[in-house]
Amino acid sequence: MTGKNELLKAIILAAGKGKRFKSDKPKVLHEVLGKPMLFYISLAVKWTNPSEIIYIVGHKKDEVIKYINCDGCKYVYQDEQLGTGDAVRRAEKYFKDFDGLVLIINGDMPLIEGETLKNAVKFVEALIRYEGAYLNDFRGYKNENVAGAVITTHMPNPFGYGRVIKDKEHKIIKIVEEKDATEKEKGIKEVNVGVYVFVGKYLAEALKKISNNNNQKEFYLTDVIDVLNRMGKDVYALEHPDYIQFLGVNNRWELAQAEDILRKKYLSFWAINGGATIHMPETVWIEFDVDLSKDVEIFQNVVLKGETKIGEGTVIEPNCIIKNSSIGKNVKILANSVIEDSVIEDNAVIGPFARIRNNAVIGENSQIGNFVEVKNSQIGKNTFAKHLSYLGDAEIGDNVNIGAGSITCNYDGIKKHKTVIKDGAFIGSDTMLVAPITVGENAMTGSGSVITKDVPDNALAIERNQQKIIPDYVIKRKKKNK
Ligand code: UD1
Ligand code: CA
Repeated sequence: MTGKNELLKAIILAAGKGKRFKSDKPKVLHEVLGKPMLFYISLAVKWTNPSEIIYIVGHKKDEVIKYINCDGCKYVYQDEQLGTGDAVRRAEKYFKDFDGLVLIINGDMPLIEGETLKNAVKFVEALIRYEGAYLNDFRGYKNENVAGAVITTHMPNPFGYGRVIKDKEHKIIKIVEEKDATEKEKGIKEVNVGVYVFVGKYLAEALKKISNNNNQKEFYLTDVIDVLNRMGKDVYALEHPDYIQFLGVNNRWELAQAEDILRKKYLSFWAINGGATIHMPETVWIEFDVDLSKDVEIFQNVVLKGETKIGEGTVIEPNCIIKNSSIGKNVKILANSVIEDSVIEDNAVIGPFARIRNNAVIGENSQIGNFVEVKNSQIGKNTFAKHLSYLGDAEIGDNVNIGAGSITCNYDGIKKHKTVIKDGAFIGSDTMLVAPITVGENAMTGSGSVITKDVPDNALAIERNQQKIIPDYVIKRKKKNK
C-alpha cells in the first residue's frame, strides 16, 4: 500500500474494561488464535490507509499502548469509561476542523475484514461526491447533507446490540441500545455493528450535544445520529449481508466462538488456496503468522503457532506442536513431537515423541527419533539420533550416529558447556559425554562409557571395567537357596 488517504483518519475504541471478561488483562488484549483482538482490528483499519490512527485507551492503558507499539499512532486517554460517545469526544482535537472522514471502530470485533472497512469509506465518499449515488436512487442528495454512514447487519440473535431504526431511504433515524429498547424495538434484527464513518467536523459538532440520559448513564456514540438529523444531516445504513465478521466479543465464551470461526477460516484458506491437506480440521490449530507450502499434509490435533513455516511436501502426523520454527521440504514429523524456535532442514525425519527446542538446527536427511530431546544444538546432514537421547549445547557434524541412550552432560550445576562431535563420529549406545568435550572426526566411543576427555580423530574412547564371567553362577545360587 502506498500513500495515505489524507482525507481519512481512524479511531479505534480500546478503553473499555471488559467487565464481563472477569479478567485482570485488558479486554482488547485477550487473544484470538494467538494474537490479541486488537491486532486484527488494527490490521483491518490499516487496510483503509488512514493518514492517522488514534487509539482511545483507558483501562490498563500502558499495557495496551505497549502492545500496539505503533510508529506514528496517536493515543488518547479516557480515564473513566463513560461510554463510546465520551471516548470519541476525547479525540475531538483530531477531527474538529477536519473536512475528511473519520472511521470509528469498536476494539472488540476481531473477525472484521479490512475490505469491509474500505468499502464503508468508499461508500461515504461516493455519497458525498455524487448526488444520490446510493442504490441507483438518483433523486439527488446534496453533498453537504451527508454526515456519514454506519455499517448494519441482520443478526440472527440481536441481543445486546444497538437496534437500527431507519427510514425508507436507508437513512438512520436512531440506534436504540438493548437496555433502552422497548419490546417492539427489541424485535428489530438489524443492528449497529460498531463501525462508523463520519464527516469529521460534523461529528465534532454533534458530540457536543449528546447526553448520558439513558438507562446505562453513558454517553452513547450512537446518539450523535439523532443530533445530526436535527442539524439537517443524514447518516446512512450500509447494510452488510454477512453478520459473522461483526460478532462483538463481550465475554470469554464469545471469544472462544470468534476464535473458532477464525480458525476455520484460516484452515479453509490453506486447504483451498494453499494446497494443503488437512485431516480432521475440527482438531487442527493454525495461527495467523504460519505459512504453509503446497502439498503439506496435516493430521489431527496438530498445533502450528507463532511464526512457523512449513515447506513443500512435509507431513505432520497427529499430536504435534510446532512453534516459531522453520520446517523444510519433504520433512516427516512423526506423531507426538514438539518443536520450538528451531529449524528442520529438508528430508529430515523427526519423532515420534521427539522434542526440539531453543534454536536447534537439524540438517538435511538427519533423523531425530523416539524420546530424543535436542536443545540449542546444531546437527549436520545425515546424522542419526534415533532413540532416547539428550543433545544440549552441542555442535554435531554430518554422518554422525548417536547410539541409543547417549547424553551430552552439558550442565555441571553452575554453567552450561559445549559438546562438539565431528563428522563421521560414532557414539556408542549409552555414552555420557561430559562437556566441555570434543569427539574427533570418525572417532568412536564404546557403549556405556563416561567420556570426560577429548577423543582424537579416528580414535576409540572406551571407559569400562573388565567384564567378569562366573561360570554356572546361577545353578550354584539355586542350589544354595534350596
Ligand atoms: C456497542 C454499541 C452498540 C453496538 C455494539 C456492537 C454504543 C453505545 N453501543 O455496544 O450499538 O451494537 O457496540 O458490538 O456504542 N469503549 C471505550 N470507552 C468507553 C466504552 C467503551 O473505549 O467508555 C470501547 C470498548 O473497549 C469497546 C467498544 O468501545 O471496544 C464498544 O464498547 P462496548 O461496551 O463493548 O459496547 P456495546 O455495549 O457492545
Ligand atoms: Ca461490545
